Amino acid sequence: MDLGLKGRKAVILGGSRGIGFYTAQLMANEGASVAICARNADGVTWATAELEACGDGKVFGAAVDLTDGDATRAFVREAGQALGGIDILIHNASGFDSSGDEDGWLRSFKVDMMAGVRAVEEALPLLKASDAASITFIGSMASKFFFGRRSSYGPAKAAMRAYANELAQSFGKDGIRANAISPGAVHFPGGSWDKVKQAQPDFYAKVEKKIPLGRLGTAEEIARIIAFVASPAGLWINATHIAADGGQVPAVD
Ligand SMILES: NC(=O)c1ccc[n+]([C@@H]2O[C@H](COP(=O)([O-])OP(=O)(O)OC[C@H]3O[C@@H](n4cnc5c(N)ncnc54)[C@H](OP(=O)(O)O)[C@@H]3O)[C@@H](O)[C@H]2O)c1
Repeated sequence: MDLGLKGRKAVILGGSRGIGFYTAQLMANEGASVAICARNADGVTWATAELEACGDGKVFGAAVDLTDGDATRAFVREAGQALGGIDILIHNASGFDSSGDEDGWLRSFKVDMMAGVRAVEEALPLLKASDAASITFIGSMASKFFFGRRSSYGPAKAAMRAYANELAQSFGKDGIRANAISPGAVHFPGGSWDKVKQAQPDFYAKVEKKIPLGRLGTAEEIARIIAFVASPAGLWINATHIAADGGQVPAVD
């Protein structure tokens, strides 16, 4: 199946490593032009070099802290200029709050929520001009299931799901789709679950055992789901939430 990504322009908030990077890489390999950002400039330099080696699309990268509203808007504006438009916007970064303290709640609000709101507002004129526009939020199954640690992470991801639906209902008339995708636990080298695997192998094994397929997901598997939903091939997926957890959460959505 052709995803229809060739020549498309994708902007990914948070894409120097992990799920965001694997998604950018997959899209670049499919012939899309991609823009990514991250706070760490070395990470951006590494990722953009990797992405440039993938296909013949354009690549744009910038060191940006998504807690900064002006910098977030500037990144999306510059990415749109560098790529020559925006068809696909993916909000992948998170504040990753695990403390539940006030700093954590504010970081979740700024990164998981407001960076998405600001990026959408900035991208809207370009998305409206696209004939296959989509907005995708990367959430978490923590938005529907209590994993045992109280923090702002799950509530922030739940807010994303409601926001995606509002966007889809509001801008469908402009040809813009919006969805949220929630990974379960995902393992990739250097990622958060890789660190758990090294530091707490027994706990990691317990988590693996609870997943029907007997292992964690991979970043490539999540990237494929994101790419399909965001691509022109996923056209009839709209205003919805997709669990990408291999059955980890034992519930019907
Ligand atoms: N991994 C999992 O098991 C899992 C499970 C469920 C949901 N998710 C969700 O999937 C998404 C990606 O997770 P991941 O595990 O791939 O994360 P990751 O490996 O930590 O990568 C996050 C990316 O976002 C960038 N980033 C983080 N905060 C940023 C900020 N304030 N401003 C700009 N860029 C920022 C990071 O670069 P810098 O650090 O250099 O800024 C990096 O490029 C997140 O939304 C997460 O909640 C992941």
